[in-house]
Amino acid sequence: MSELVNIRAVGKRYDSAGPPALHGVDLTVAPGEAVAVMGPSGSGKSTLLNLIAGLDRPTEGRVEVAGTDLTGLSETALARFRRRHIGIVFQFFHLLDELTARDNVLLPAHLAGTPRRAARARADDLLDSLGIAARADAYPARLSGGERQRVAVARALVNRPPLLLADEPTGAVDAHAGDQICDLLRDLNRGGQTVVLVTHDPSLAARCATRTVEVRDGQVAP
Ligand SMILES: Nc1ncnc2c1ncn2[C@@H]1O[C@H](COP(=O)(O)OP(=O)(O)O)[C@@H](O)[C@H]1O
Ligand SMILES: [Mg+2]
Repeated sequence: MSELVNIRAVGKRYDSAGPPALHGVDLTVAPGEAVAVMGPSGSGKSTLLNLIAGLDRPTEGRVEVAGTDLTGLSETALARFRRRHIGIVFQFFHLLDELTARDNVLLPAHLAGTPRRAARARADDLLDSLGIAARADAYPARLSGGERQRVAVARALVNRPPLLLADEPTGAVDAHAGDQICDLLRDLNRGGQTVVLVTHDPSLAARCATRTVEVRDGQVAP
């Protein structure tokens, strides 16, 4: 119960033919950990992250986050749970092009009902601490890949989620920006943020995670 993430005997099938994307997966993540999930392409890493995020549902087993069994929640309850408990950063940023950097960061705060003034202060603090305060009024099209990803990190953190998930967050930025994202995740973790990070890159895992787990053919290596 003290675990932040508790996954038991989880399986995921996208279709009935062929092998499952995940099977027999057990995984726990304690508060304060930064876990790197590694493994070859197609091994099931994103599937695993999406199940932890409550973006998808397992076909077997149980996914518990912050003491809540996600498999028992309705779609509405799941969306509400995600908003409060989980921040997600994707490889390709998924920012809204028609909103400025600041408004992208503000969006989840507005959805969560945070009063405007407090949300704006929080967004500006985050943009500042991530070194992109000067870009707050810029639209994503005017930002570099590294800047976009930092905006995405700020957006993921705006509601102070206990769990930050990142799926290959450095996969679409240059090496220098990738190093900055890695340092950022490491610093967030040192500040107490629990992180689960999918990456292909062993040096990234070594630098910004406290523990590594390997996914192979839909299973987490013991
Ligand atoms: N939405 C989906 N529909 C059908 N099959 C999927 C879907 N997402 C992933 N898969 C399959 O599940 C397996 C694991 O994929 P994924 O979790 O994306 O792996 P990874 O992130 O490690 O590259 C792959 O065989 C992939 O083709
Ligand atoms: Mg993937």
